[in-house]
Amino acid sequence: MIVATSILSADFLNLERDIRAIQQAGSDYIHIDIMDGIFVSNVTWGPSTVSAIRKITDLRLDVHLIINQSELMLDAYIETGADIITIHPESTHFLRKNLLKIKNAGVKAGVALKLETPIESIRHCLDLVDVVLFLTCDEGFGGQAFHSLALEKIAQATKWRKEKGFNYLIEVDGGIIPETAEKCKEAGADIAVAGSYIFKNNMQQAIQQLKNI
Ligand code: DX5
Ligand code: ZN
Repeated sequence: MIVATSILSADFLNLERDIRAIQQAGSDYIHIDIMDGIFVSNVTWGPSTVSAIRKITDLRLDVHLIINQSELMLDAYIETGADIITIHPESTHFLRKNLLKIKNAGVKAGVALKLETPIESIRHCLDLVDVVLFLTCDEGFGGQAFHSLALEKIAQATKWRKEKGFNYLIEVDGGIIPETAEKCKEAGADIAVAGSYIFKNNMQQAIQQLKNI
């Protein structure tokens, strides 16, 4: 698995220290959850924090926009130097248009699905996305349990990818530990986002364990 360490579990007052530790420990990506307190009942950071993170690491920045009307903020997040920007169909009426905007700016475009959103709501975008993210818990907070509701959707995305020759990577996010990552991998997932598991254990070992799946 490609490992994306979620800084939602980092110490917000020591973000630089934690980001350097994540890099040192061998993570592939840094996963940054942006929450606005409207689409989801939590608030994290804004574009200026992502730009500041960009200055201290070469790791790929995987920015997950868990915000309403993502189109209003796309330019700002594109300017941060993020490598992947992922948006939700539940938060915009302009999904394809927004994804194209991200791609045309030279950034990898991702589409993310809440646990309860059917996969049909992103089907019309699968030809153009670089990443499809499946939330495997409810959005908003780290440390929740994995929910298997997403497994069928992951398998479907894997099937469509093969049948239609699409190129997206499949990312899973929420409650990821080696056992749940294994199930996702079996269904076809490529990228594992993990926050709690990596921060609560020996970081290097936890990342390596997930990478080996
Ligand atoms: C949930 C976030 C996740 C979260 C995962 O809304 O999108 O990225 O950080 O955290 P863990 O690994 O603790 O479930
Ligand atoms: Zn996320």
